[in-house]
Amino acid sequence: MGNHVRIVEVGPRDGLQNEKTLVASADKIELIDRLSATGLKSIEATSFVSPKWVPQLADAAEVFAGITRRPGVQYPVLVPNERGYERARSVGVEEIAVFTAASEAFNKTNINASIDESLARFAPVLQRARQDGVRVRGYVSTVLGCPYQGEVPLADVVRVASSLHAMGCYEVSLGDTIGIGTPHQARAMLRAVAAELPISALAVHFHDTYGQALSNILACLEDGVAVIDSAVSGAGGCPYAKGASGNVASEDVVYMLHGLGLDTGIDLDALAETGRWLAARLGRETGSKVGRALAAA
Ligand code: HMG
Ligand code: MG
Repeated sequence: MGNHVRIVEVGPRDGLQNEKTLVASADKIELIDRLSATGLKSIEATSFVSPKWVPQLADAAEVFAGITRRPGVQYPVLVPNERGYERARSVGVEEIAVFTAASEAFNKTNINASIDESLARFAPVLQRARQDGVRVRGYVSTVLGCPYQGEVPLADVVRVASSLHAMGCYEVSLGDTIGIGTPHQARAMLRAVAAELPISALAVHFHDTYGQALSNILACLEDGVAVIDSAVSGAGGCPYAKGASGNVASEDVVYMLHGLGLDTGIDLDALAETGRWLAARLGRETGSKVGRALAAA
C-alpha cells in the first residue's frame, strides 16, 4: 500500500441522481462548495445526461456554473454522448466521465445501447476531449453482478475496462452497481483487470446494498488500488439498477483509511458535518455510521 489514497466524491451526482425529493440547485451548489472545503480533490459535480432519463440533475448547467471552483480540485461530470459533451463544455467543464457496463442487459436499460454501441458513442467524445485538453474518466458498471443478467464474466469486465483505457480514459472506475459482491470476489475482479491495466489507472466504486463495501474496499486496497469512489452521507443509487442502494459513505471510508495510517488530505469532521447537513436537506438522518458517531461523541 502506498500512503496516499484519493477519494472521488460522487455524492452530488450518484447520490442526488436517485433522490425522489428534488434538491434545489442552490443546495446542490452549497453541497459541492462545502465538499471542496473539506480537502477533497475530486468531486463529481453533476451529470449531463438526458433530463428525461434523470430529471433530478436537469439543472446540471446551472449547478456547474454556480459552484466556486477551487484551484487544485477536479470537478468531473457524467457525459453520455456528444450532446452531453457540448452542454458540459458550454459551462466550462474540464473533466468528464463516460460510463458503460460489463453487462449487455444493464446497458440496454441504463443507456439504451449495447456495450459496443456505447463505446462507439464515446469515440467522438474522447476525440474531442483530447483536442480540448479535457480529462476523461471511464466507468464500468455491474463488475460483480447485474440485476438483469445475474453473473457477469470477469472477461467481460476486463474487455470493457481495457477498451475504455485504450480509448484514452486516464482512470477506469470499476463499479459494483448493485453492491452485491464480497471481498474475495472484489479482489479477484480487480486482479483480473490489473493484469491488463496499470493499477494506478484503476479506481473502485462500491454501493453498499449488502453492507460489503468497506470490506471490499479493504481487499482492493491490499491489492494496491489507491483511488476510491464514495458519496458523502452514503447517498445514492442508480435509478436504472433495480435494488441498488447508496454508495459507501465517504465519511466511513475516510475514517477507515485514516485508521489504517493512510493519508487522504480530508478533514473528517468537516466531511461528516457536510454529510449531516445533506441528510437534513433530504429530510433524514445521515447514512454514515461515522457521521452519526461523531455527532453523538
Ligand atoms: P436515448 O433515448 O436512447 O437517445 O437516450 P436519444 O439520442 O434518442 O435521445 C432521446 C432524447 O434525449 C432526445 O430528446 C435527445 O435530444 C435527448 P427529444 O428529441 O426526445 O426531445 N438527449 C439529451 N438531452 C440532454 N443531454 C444529453 C442528451 N442526450 C440525448 N446528453 C441516453 C440515450 C444515453 C441519452 C439516455 O439513455 C441517458 O441519458 N441515460 C442516462 C442514464 C443515467 O444517467 N444513469 C445513471 C448514471 S450511471 C450510474 O449511476 C452508474 C455509476 O455510478 C457506476 C456504478 O455504480 O456502477 C456511474
Ligand atoms: Mg454508482
